[in-house]
Amino acid sequence: MLNKERMPVHVAIIMDGNGRWAKQKNLPRVMGHNAGMKAMKKIVDHSDKLGIKYLTVYAFSTENWKRSLAEVTGIFKLLVAYVNSDLKGLIDNNVRVKVLGDYSQIPEDAKKSLEKTLEATKDNTGLQFNIALNYGGRDEIRRAVCAIGEEIKEGRLEPQDITEEIIADHLFTGSGGADAPDPELVIRTSGELRLSNYLLWQTAYSELVFTDVLWPEFTPEEYEKAIEEYQSRHRRFGGR
Ligand code: IPE
Ligand code: IPE
Ligand code: MG
Repeated sequence: MLNKERMPVHVAIIMDGNGRWAKQKNLPRVMGHNAGMKAMKKIVDHSDKLGIKYLTVYAFSTENWKRSLAEVTGIFKLLVAYVNSDLKGLIDNNVRVKVLGDYSQIPEDAKKSLEKTLEATKDNTGLQFNIALNYGGRDEIRRAVCAIGEEIKEGRLEPQDITEEIIADHLFTGSGGADAPDPELVIRTSGELRLSNYLLWQTAYSELVFTDVLWPEFTPEEYEKAIEEYQSRHRRFGGR
């Protein structure tokens, strides 16, 4: 049973297995991504119902550009379709959408839809839904280092004064960006046991839950099971 008193504040998900799901069904990979968007929509709704404050999903990594142009284009088309068709629902549910990652490089129509959604939901006070898009953990840290370097060059900061808090604040999850705490729980579907460059700094003490379920088949029930697993863990943070 889920303990409502011990819900994670921030859940991060690596939505993996769309391609294998499509392959199992003899469908093109893009159909797997389409099914994945539907699964994602249900998880957004369910997060809100469970009272989770932040949900971050890995939608497209800095490494995913290595895929075929058809697949990459297909993924962004689906994203546009999702944000356009669901904007009203997101507003009605008081969801605030944020993006982690440099989305300036994504196709123009996807960028426009996304910006419209960011603007239309920015004052909402319910669930914060972060979409990691063209996101890479190493790229994020590199950008933070560049920004901190600029501040040093301008004489606003001394190297010895760089704290962990300052570094964290320059990440996409910092106060100038999504302004989100570290995730207590990371869920990865499809049986892969790795982080694939996801939230490298922020997951230092996150609990990791892996499931063999492919992302399009990840239901709210599976989601609750993963949270129950998290609730059964004993977090020590290096203490006794
Ligand atoms: C995850 O599913 C979605 C993205 C990376 C965009 P995959 O497309 O990686 O699915 P598999 O891993 O090939 O099954
Ligand atoms: C991670 O999945 C990225 C997303 C889910 C968006 P990948 O399928 O790209 O990761 P690898 O290649 O299996 O590590
Ligand atoms: Mg994959």
